[in-house]
Amino acid sequence: MDLNALKAALEASPENVPLLLLIAQEHLDRFDLDEADSYLKKATQLQPGHAKVQLLAARLSSLQGHISEAIVRLEALCQKFPEMAEAWLFLASLTVSEGDGPLARGYYEKAVAIDPNLKNDKLLTDIIQAGGASSTRKSGHSEPATNKSLSNGHIESGPFFEGDHFEDDGIPSLDGVLARDLEVDFQLRSDRKFEDVGGMSMVKDEIRMKIIHPLKNPKLFEQYGKKAGGGVLLYGPPGCGKTLMSLATAGEIQSTFLSVGLHQILNMYIGESESRLHDIFQLARRHNPCVLFFDEIDALAADRRDMRQSAGRHLINQFLSELDGAGAHNDGILVLGATNAPWHVDNAFLRPGRFDRIIFVPPPDLEARIEIARICSREKPVIEFSAEEFARKTEGFSGADIRSAFDRATEEALQEALQRGGQIVPITGKKLLKAVKNVRPSTRKWFESARNYALYANQDGLYDDILKYLKMNHS
Ligand SMILES: Nc1ncnc2c1ncn2[C@@H]1O[C@H](COP(=O)(O)OP(=O)(O)OP(=O)(O)O)[C@@H](O)[C@H]1O
Ligand SMILES: [Mg+2]
Repeated sequence: MDLNALKAALEASPENVPLLLLIAQEHLDRFDLDEADSYLKKATQLQPGHAKVQLLAARLSSLQGHISEAIVRLEALCQKFPEMAEAWLFLASLTVSEGDGPLARGYYEKAVAIDPNLKNDKLLTDIIQAGGASSTRKSGHSEPATNKSLSNGHIESGPFFEGDHFEDDGIPSLDGVLARDLEVDFQLRSDRKFEDVGGMSMVKDEIRMKIIHPLKNPKLFEQYGKKAGGGVLLYGPPGCGKTLMSLATAGEIQSTFLSVGLHQILNMYIGESESRLHDIFQLARRHNPCVLFFDEIDALAADRRDMRQSAGRHLINQFLSELDGAGAHNDGILVLGATNAPWHVDNAFLRPGRFDRIIFVPPPDLEARIEIARICSREKPVIEFSAEEFARKTEGFSGADIRSAFDRATEEALQEALQRGGQIVPITGKKLLKAVKNVRPSTRKWFESARNYALYANQDGLYDDILKYLKMNHS
């Protein structure tokens, strides 16, 4: 929605409550909590008893992390307007986030009875997981599913509405819900180094400045009032070295490196995933200095407007408050994020202060392709090979495409070697160029959609680097 247009309309009728609410809502969606608050206050002064005003006030409280306050507001609202399905549903989602499944189940059923369109499988599953298989509490032994009982043995992550895990009433049974992986990966060591990454010199410099130099020269940095840490978000087409770069950072620094699988956190219960995320940041703080890496950060920060009242929203808010909340002590922590879909990342993440550098990682240029070709031919019997010539023939290739050409040529040589009874057959430049012909550069497709976002959704010039790249390379 066009916020400016709404605000212009408000100037014409400053006491228009529905308009004030629309604007407040829009700000809430954008996580501008202070702005939302000021519009809501105006609306409250004008019409304190308005149901929607109260609903939005509850949303604001929950986004501010005041969950109990939000719940109290909603309980009052539901009592006063018992037909307000949205309010019941919101109450259900907050109640389950507080861990009370059975109570949440009751609220959920009220919401759905009023408005069947509000059925929400995800929420229902979360409720069931929190012990809300039915809305009535069984006295004594209704045991809520605990972390421990779920994490026995290897458990696959993924969708759990599968096969015949449904009870008669179509509600997934706890067996189905068990199919989750609750482990989070912490990668503490890596043997990659910056020299294993071709090109990306800007990214390397940024990481050096933020964590490597400050750790090596703490006194010097202190003199300039600079501390180790900060946030860097890498974005760009697939296969161009974002993940590799993070592994190389891990190898470069002699300190802790935590790589967090967001998909796994997302698979947790509402409420639990937030506290897990908090635990992870706390762990990083305890191990400071440290690099905290979130790959495919769009998974977490996806712009889930439709989920604003449920799990995704809470987790995003938790993440934001960990990044820059007043109580966050993030000195010495470098938060590194990577994504190839920055447009799906919640806007709030892209604002200054969250990640202080948002860096476009383009496909490797000629120089970088030469470097990558050299990296790929290390420790292999490569002969009669010109990295320059190879690089010139691989325009538009990602690092991964280049590696794939090397893999093909290597396999061919190996096959011949096997046929010759184990005699070494070299990987020739000719074989490599032949392999190049069979690899299709994979970055073009990404640029097709990136171009649209850069042209039509280029807020604050965020994607100027993409446009610059396109101008140089595709026109
Ligand atoms: N700049 C590079 N230098 C050396 N190797 C590279 C480079 N970029 C990519 N590669 C090779 O391609 C593989 C895949 O790259 P990587 O996983 O880092 O891509 P990515 O940018 O994270 O992609 P995605 O967006 O799909 O996650 C790497 O493991 C490496 O072998
Ligand atoms: Mg990656």
